[in-house]
Amino acid sequence: MKSISKKSLIKLLVFSIFILCVKSLKAQTLNEIDKAITVKIDSIISLLTVEEKIAMCHAQSKFSSSGVPRLGIPELWMSDGPHGIRPEMNWDNWDYANWTNDYVTAFPALTCLAATFNPGLSKEYGISLGEEARYRKKDILLGPGVNIYRTPLNGRNFEYMGEDPFLASTMVVPYIQGVQQSGVATSVKHYALNNQEHWRGHINVEVSDRALNEIYLPAFKAAIIDGGSWSIMGAYNKFRGQHCCHNQILLNDILKNRWGFDGVVISDWAGTHSTLESIYNGLDIEMGTPSDSNLSKRFPYNNNFLGKAFLDKIISGEVKEYNLDDKVKRILKLMYRTSLNKNRPFGSINTKAHSNTAYKVATEGIVLLQNSDSFLPINSSTNITIAVIGENATKSMTIGGGSSELKVANEISPLEGLRKHFINATIIYSQGYSSESNNKKRNEELKKEALSIAEKANVVLFIGGLNKNNSQDSEGADRQYYNLPYNQDDLIGSIAKVNKNISVILISGNAVSMPWRDKIKSIVQSWYLGSEAGNALASILSGRANPSGKLPFTFPKKLSDNAAHYYGKLSYPGDGENQYYKEDILVGYRWNDTKKIKPEFAFGHGLSYTSFKLSNIISDKKNYKSADTIKISCSVENTGGVQGAEVIQVYIGKENSKVNRAMKELKGFKKLSLLKGESKIVEIYITMDKLAFYDETISDWNIEKGEYVVFVGNASDNISKKIKITVI
Ligand code: BGC
Repeated sequence: MKSISKKSLIKLLVFSIFILCVKSLKAQTLNEIDKAITVKIDSIISLLTVEEKIAMCHAQSKFSSSGVPRLGIPELWMSDGPHGIRPEMNWDNWDYANWTNDYVTAFPALTCLAATFNPGLSKEYGISLGEEARYRKKDILLGPGVNIYRTPLNGRNFEYMGEDPFLASTMVVPYIQGVQQSGVATSVKHYALNNQEHWRGHINVEVSDRALNEIYLPAFKAAIIDGGSWSIMGAYNKFRGQHCCHNQILLNDILKNRWGFDGVVISDWAGTHSTLESIYNGLDIEMGTPSDSNLSKRFPYNNNFLGKAFLDKIISGEVKEYNLDDKVKRILKLMYRTSLNKNRPFGSINTKAHSNTAYKVATEGIVLLQNSDSFLPINSSTNITIAVIGENATKSMTIGGGSSELKVANEISPLEGLRKHFINATIIYSQGYSSESNNKKRNEELKKEALSIAEKANVVLFIGGLNKNNSQDSEGADRQYYNLPYNQDDLIGSIAKVNKNISVILISGNAVSMPWRDKIKSIVQSWYLGSEAGNALASILSGRANPSGKLPFTFPKKLSDNAAHYYGKLSYPGDGENQYYKEDILVGYRWNDTKKIKPEFAFGHGLSYTSFKLSNIISDKKNYKSADTIKISCSVENTGGVQGAEVIQVYIGKENSKVNRAMKELKGFKKLSLLKGESKIVEIYITMDKLAFYDETISDWNIEKGEYVVFVGNASDNISKKIKITVI
C-alpha cells in the first residue's frame, strides 16, 4: 500500500476539522432554531385561552382543525393520501365539493412503490407528492401506510408496502423525507395492527411482544426515527383491549417515550372513543368523530371527545391544564414545521416531472411473474393481431377504493397505452366479464365475444384482476374469496383452450389464486399504477422497458397456506371481538420458508427479459463482534441480451436459536442496473443490530451469539449462495 505523505495527512486533518466545524455549526444552528421555536411556542401558549387550545385538539370540518383567528394562527388542513392528493370534500359531509381545480397526478399505489425495491425512487415519489400536496395548500398528508401484509384478503393491502418489515422500513423513510421537504407533514398510518378491514372499528388484536416489535412496529419506528415524520395516525382497531387512537402502550410507552416522538398523533376518522383515554393516552387531534349539528350551528364539533367534555374536565379541575398544553405545543411545533415555516416552497401540480416520476415507479414496480418460452416482450413493430380481453383494460383504477380515491388530470388506461405503443398491430378489445352485471345471459354473451376474438388473434392479453369496488381492493371491507372475482378463472381457462399464446396481466394490490397458471404463457403483476398506467404497462409488454419489480409479498397457492389463515377463524378474522395472531413472527415468506410450504410466487420474486449471474459472493469476515457491520459483496453480471436491473437480496437466519426463528429474514438489498454484458460488484452492509431478536424476558433487543447463515440471491426462493458467519 502507498504510504500517505505528510502533506496529504495535514490536508486530511484540516479537511476533517472543517467538516466537524460545519457539522457542529449546523447542529448548533438547528439546536438554536429549535430553542427559539420552543420559546415562541411557550409565549403563544401563554396567550391562548383554554377554549382556543381545546379547539385546536379536534376537528372543525371533515379535513381541518381550528387555528386561532385572533392571533393569526392558521387552521391545519389535511388530505388523503397516500398516492395522490384527494379531491376537495364539503366542509361537513362526505360529498365531493366538485371544485374544478383539484385534479392531480395519481402516483402508483404503495404496493407498486415497494415492488420497485428502489429507495431512491421512493424519495422522488415523496418529493413529487409533497409538491402536489403543497400546491393544494395541505399541511398534513394522510399517509404513507405501512401496515404489514398479513392476509391477502385485507381490502387495504394496496395502500401498504408489503409483508416485510425491513423492506417497508427502507422504502418508507425516503418517501417521508421527500414529502416533508415541501413543508408538508406526513401522517404515517394506521398505527398499529390495522391488518384487516373486516371489523376494523372494534376488533381487539392480541399479539406477542415479539411479533409486535419484530414485524408490526419496525416500519412505524423507521418512519418516526429515521424518516422524522411529523405526525402519525392511530388505527381503528384495539390492541390489548384499548383502542389504538388512545392506547397507553402504543402511544405513550412506545411512540412518545421509547421513540421520543415530538410530533402530533391524529386519530383515524371516528377512531376516538373516550375523553379520558384521549387526554391521557397520547392523542393530540381528534378527527372524523361525527359532528352534532343540533348542538350548535356554529360549532358542531364541540361535542367531540376532545371538545366540550375535555373543557369541562379542565374547568372542574379534574384534569390539569398541562395535559392540554402538551397537545397544543405539539400542534404548534408541527405548524412551525409546515404552515408557519416561511421558507417552505410553493409546490407544483401536474407537472411533466410528476408524470415522469409516476411512470418510472410504475414501470419499475411491475413484476414479471412468469414468462414461458420468452413469450414477452411482444415485438411492437410487427403487424400482428392482439386480442385485449378484460374489464381492467379500460376501467379507471383511481376511482374507488375508499379514502385514497383520486380525481386525476390524466389517466392512461392499459388499452389506450397499448394502442399508443403498438401502432403496427391490430388491437381488438372485448370486455370478457363485467364487475357490474349479475345477468347470466349478458355474462355469457361477454364470454362468447371474448372467445371469438381470442380465437382469431395471434396473441391474447388478458387484463383483469381485482378492482377498487367494495369487497375487492377497497377500504372498509375485506375480500371474501382468494380467487379472482366475476368468473375470471373460468374465462381465462376457456381462452387458454382456444389460444395458447396468452399473457394474464393482473391489476390488483393483492395476491390471488391462479388455477390457470400452467395453461398460460406469461403472468404480469401490474398493481394500481395511477396516471401513467397504460404507458408503463405498454412499455413493459413491448420490451421498451425491462421488468425489474420484485414481489413485496408472497402469493400463496391457497389461502390455508397463508399463516394467518392456517390458524383458522380466531386468527383471521377473529370471533367478532378478539383475534389472536397465532402465527406470531412467521408472517409471509417467514411462514412458507420455515414450514416448507411452496408458494405460487415467493416474496422477492420477479423476472427480467435478460439474465443475471451472481458470483464471488463473500462476507468480509467469518467472525463478528456485536458492534461490527457485516459487508456482503457479490459480483453481478448481465448475461442476457438487453439492459436490465436486478435486486440482490440478503437474508439472514439463525439455526439453533434459543427462540423460534424464521428460516431467514431480509436484512439488506440493492438494486442495480446493468448494460448487456456488463458486470458490477455490489456491496451490502448490515449492522449487527439487524440480527437481534426482541427478547421478551428482558423486554429489549438481544443479539444472540453463535452461528448465522447469510443467504444471498435474487428472490427469497432463489438463493445463489449461503455463507456461515459467527457472532462472537
Ligand atoms: C381512513 C384513513 C383516512 C381517513 C380520512 C379513514 O376512514 O382509514 O386512512 O386517512 O379516513 O379520509
